[in-house]
Amino acid sequence: MGGRAGDSPTRSPSRSDPPARASARATTRAGTGHGAGEPNHSVSKEARRRSPSISTETEELLPAERPVTLDLPRVIAVANQKGGVGKTTTTVNLGAALAEMDYRVLVIDLDPQGNATTGLGIDARNFELSMYDVIMREAPLEDCIEPTSVKNLFVAPATIDLAGIEIELVPAFSRELKLKRAIDGVVNDFDFILIDCPPSLGLITVNGLAAAGEVLVPIQCEYYALEGLSQLLRNVKLVSSNLNETLEVSTIVLTMYDARTRLSVDVAKEVRAHFSGRVCKSVIPRTVRLSEAPSFGQPITVFDPTSRGAVAYRDLAKEVSNGAAQRTR
Ligand SMILES: Nc1ncnc2c1ncn2[C@@H]1O[C@H](COP(=O)(O)OP(=O)(O)OP(=O)(O)O)[C@@H](O)[C@H]1O
Ligand SMILES: [Mg+2]
Repeated sequence: MGGRAGDSPTRSPSRSDPPARASARATTRAGTGHGAGEPNHSVSKEARRRSPSISTETEELLPAERPVTLDLPRVIAVANQKGGVGKTTTTVNLGAALAEMDYRVLVIDLDPQGNATTGLGIDARNFELSMYDVIMREAPLEDCIEPTSVKNLFVAPATIDLAGIEIELVPAFSRELKLKRAIDGVVNDFDFILIDCPPSLGLITVNGLAAAGEVLVPIQCEYYALEGLSQLLRNVKLVSSNLNETLEVSTIVLTMYDARTRLSVDVAKEVRAHFSGRVCKSVIPRTVRLSEAPSFGQPITVFDPTSRGAVAYRDLAKEVSNGAAQRTR
């Protein structure tokens, strides 16, 4: 997905090669002190690599037991201020897999990049109202909802206009609760509402968190994935103390897992060790097919229904829904 202007502080530095850099630093350190002719007891590359670890603060902010009642309808904010960790991929494909199970699902695109919108095959030229109109102009959410090519799956689209909200909403009354009010009007028409948040902790994300019953955090299986987690958890806590008492992180999903790399295995181990009850057993593998599907405007369950990515998101949907009976409508 394309880069985004103006979010460099929150944009993940993960696109670089952290282990390599860590090793490079370690090499420099290891290199000092060895004079010419001294035996070089250099530490092996593997031993020098720093293990990913979760801070004590992060751990205290999120106890391991899984909370919340999982009654339908559920409103789930998919959030992580780190960029490119799989929020949109998870929102779109989990949504499609839940819809395949006959749940009625609404994906709310809350990111000005509009990746969930285009990933579900909706072209900005073909809709009149977007989430900008819902949040800034109080257009009814039901008027902005578009059907997708997947039965039971709907999307409330976003366009780049939404970026203006971070500034335009500042003076507004109850600015943090605009989305919640909008969702109240449609929540009973759906079993699941998934909110795809942008990679920031600004007003748009706060609206997403204030409107949700729970938060799903995708964690990319890479070195920097665990940094910033405490900041996200602090924000969830702030929103729950001030705006939305029952909000909590219910679900952590490990994404872009590559079993061939030690780093993926280590990150998964560390996350499970600390947040066991909230971490989904299903892990999303890194696969090219998952990254290709959005350019065809299709979720993976349609684009390549038997691929590893499709199977993983179906497993995740079973786990997240926890066998809840579809509501009669
Ligand atoms: N499991 C996966 N395997 C391979 N590629 C993936 C996988 N998940 C996501 N990607 C790719 O990684 C990139 C980032 O994913 P995605 O857009 O879902 O992240 P995001 O957290 O929504 O990003 P942003 O913070 O910019 O909104 C995309 O190009 C996507 O296609
Ligand atoms: Mg995204």
